[in-house]
Amino acid sequence: MKPEISIPLHKAHDITPAVLRAGEYCREAGCSENDGRLISTAVSELANNIIKYARHGSIRMKEVQSNTRHGIEVVAIDSGPGISDVGRAMKDHYSSSGTLGLGLPGIKRMMDDFDIQSTRGEGTRIVARKWI
Ligand SMILES: Nc1ncnc2c1ncn2[C@@H]1O[C@H](COP(=O)(O)OP(=O)(O)OP(=O)(O)O)[C@@H](O)[C@H]1O
Ligand SMILES: [Mg+2]
Repeated sequence: MKPEISIPLHKAHDITPAVLRAGEYCREAGCSENDGRLISTAVSELANNIIKYARHGSIRMKEVQSNTRHGIEVVAIDSGPGISDVGRAMKDHYSSSGTLGLGLPGIKRMMDDFDIQSTRGEGTRIVARKWI
């Protein structure tokens, strides 16, 4: 099993290297090309949200293993403003910044497990897992 990695995000220029690093991690962990693409897309959406809404944060990736399954876990953490209404943020086409509003619901569809914890004024923590 590969060790966990943590990718810090401080500025928009950090996003592309983070997405490339995520793809490399998936390949090294034995993901199919398709799973690697889906996980990298999820990382791209999470990283863009961190930079856009929270300014700083990080993405962690690790391999996870249950009795029968092997997968990749992605955790996005920031100490930004938080999301006041998570139910609304998870709806297709809701965006507080006038963009598509498909990032979070898209991640939920692309990954197998998805959990979001967000507290106003404290930050947001999103865990997404894909069994590969
Ligand atoms: N890390 C975060 N911190 C605070 N608010 C967030 C964060 N991530 C998402 N949000 C809120 O949730 C909403 C929905 O996020 P989502 O990624 O689905 O859409 P978007 O970023 O607005 O548009 P798109 O991702 O399609 O460009 C955002 O508009 C924003 O209000
Ligand atoms: Mg987004």
